[in-house]
Amino acid sequence: MVRRTREGDLVVLESPTYYGFLQILQTLGLRALEIPTHPRSGISLDALELALGQHPVKAVLVMPNVSNPIGASMSEAAKKRLVGMLAARDVPLIEDHIYADLQFGAAPPRAAKSYDRAGNVILCGSFTKTLAPGLKVGWIEAGRWRDRVRMLKFVASGGQNELIETVVAELLESGSYERSLRQLRRRFAVQVDAARAVIADSFPHGTRVTRPTGAYILWLELPQGCDSVALFERLLERGISIAPGPMFSATQRYRNFMRISVGQAWSERHERALREIGRLAAQS
Ligand SMILES: Cc1ncc(COP(=O)(O)O)c(C=O)c1O
Repeated sequence: MVRRTREGDLVVLESPTYYGFLQILQTLGLRALEIPTHPRSGISLDALELALGQHPVKAVLVMPNVSNPIGASMSEAAKKRLVGMLAARDVPLIEDHIYADLQFGAAPPRAAKSYDRAGNVILCGSFTKTLAPGLKVGWIEAGRWRDRVRMLKFVASGGQNELIETVVAELLESGSYERSLRQLRRRFAVQVDAARAVIADSFPHGTRVTRPTGAYILWLELPQGCDSVALFERLLERGISIAPGPMFSATQRYRNFMRISVGQAWSERHERALREIGRLAAQS
């Protein structure tokens, strides 16, 4: 039977999590339960198991491969355990796979969905991060919620844009998409390294930065007492954009954290901007 969430229901998220998930939960009147997440290996499954035993969780929404903002990827054993744990409790897993194609490893990562035997995982992907942000083409493998998801998609956005879908399908079939992914992964890996080196050189002593498993997003912890919201406002006046830490938590945590994105073609201008963030962070 397909169940639906109701206002006030609890949904598990990683912490920190993508702010878009928080906005979705807020719009639907759902409550977030934040589970601690390791910067390299992803959500803590022990903490999740404990939470599932104590709270009436209705769904789990996570990014097992290249999460946003911390860039973590779960091991195969962990993905398998996650899927099994949720299937045993009949709690659906919503898997956001949007950055998975940008993972730095040689082979493409397996989705947690690949361990799903019960149709309990809803796998969501998109070409927003790999082809063009404005494209708005994605896909869902919704397991036993397929018909319901198809209907909700129709109601929410009135069907698909067939022209764009055909173009994307041709890019996939011709191999151009794969070739472009290889280039993107190489470019992002170099840019991430370059940005981490600038951060090590120019940010206040005690700053910590993630080493993401893919894509182009860095999550920074500034020394205690630094205020990323105030920093965001000062940087805005200079035309530099960061995402302050509290955006990534339902409970406004991470005041001394921030997310920066280094996806644009790296140039001296970007390096100067990053050094300026470090300089102002030291004063914040
Ligand atoms: C983690 C994550 N999921 C989903 C989305 C939304 O993607 P789309 O624009 O394809 O709906 C984004 C975009 O920023 C994202 O970072």
